[in-house]
Amino acid sequence: DLLFTHRFEPGDRSGATPLLLLHGTGGDENDLLQLGAMISSGSPLLSPRGRVLENGMPRFFSRLAEGVFDEEDVRHRALELGEFVQHARKRYGIDAPLAVGYSNGANIAAALLLMDPHALSGAILLRAMVPLTDPPAARLHGKPVLILSGRQDPIVPADNAGALAAMLSAAGANVDHRILPEGHQLSQADLGLARTWLAEAK
Ligand code: MLT
Repeated sequence: DLLFTHRFEPGDRSGATPLLLLHGTGGDENDLLQLGAMISSGSPLLSPRGRVLENGMPRFFSRLAEGVFDEEDVRHRALELGEFVQHARKRYGIDAPLAVGYSNGANIAAALLLMDPHALSGAILLRAMVPLTDPPAARLHGKPVLILSGRQDPIVPADNAGALAAMLSAAGANVDHRILPEGHQLSQADLGLARTWLAEAK
């Protein structure tokens, strides 16, 4: 059986980009289904639940403190997620998905791009930060990446989001980094920007 507890929605629009939905700390596989359908209606949606528990809250990798990651676990969990995606693609017959991750889910999506570039066709990273201080030399060959940061985000310092954008650009991704007048929470503006960007990225 597939390693992650997950939901899969087949979608009803042929050729629509499949989305890999990655929730934030304390979320689960149901959290982002609605967001995914709003960003790209009719897309197949693959939505795993993070396998790490922090005080009962699902996450995609362990951390030592808020914003301080267990990088060995980040690497291991990113590769594990990449394997899940590969197996799920076979089972459900979908192309390489574009990740849509929020907070902890955005951070594992960024790590997956760097650790296993073939797993994803691109990514929308909502409130992401640098997941690995010394990532392997990935080649992202122009994969589209949208990073949406909040100027008042108390969890992600602005220069950290900028460093992530620079890291992914240096690896060859086609990065669009926007900074919104928001905090860590998502807003209507995130949704609108993500939808427009995705329609143009294809
Ligand atoms: C993380 O642990 O990935 C970040 O601190 C975001 C969060 O989940 O709060």
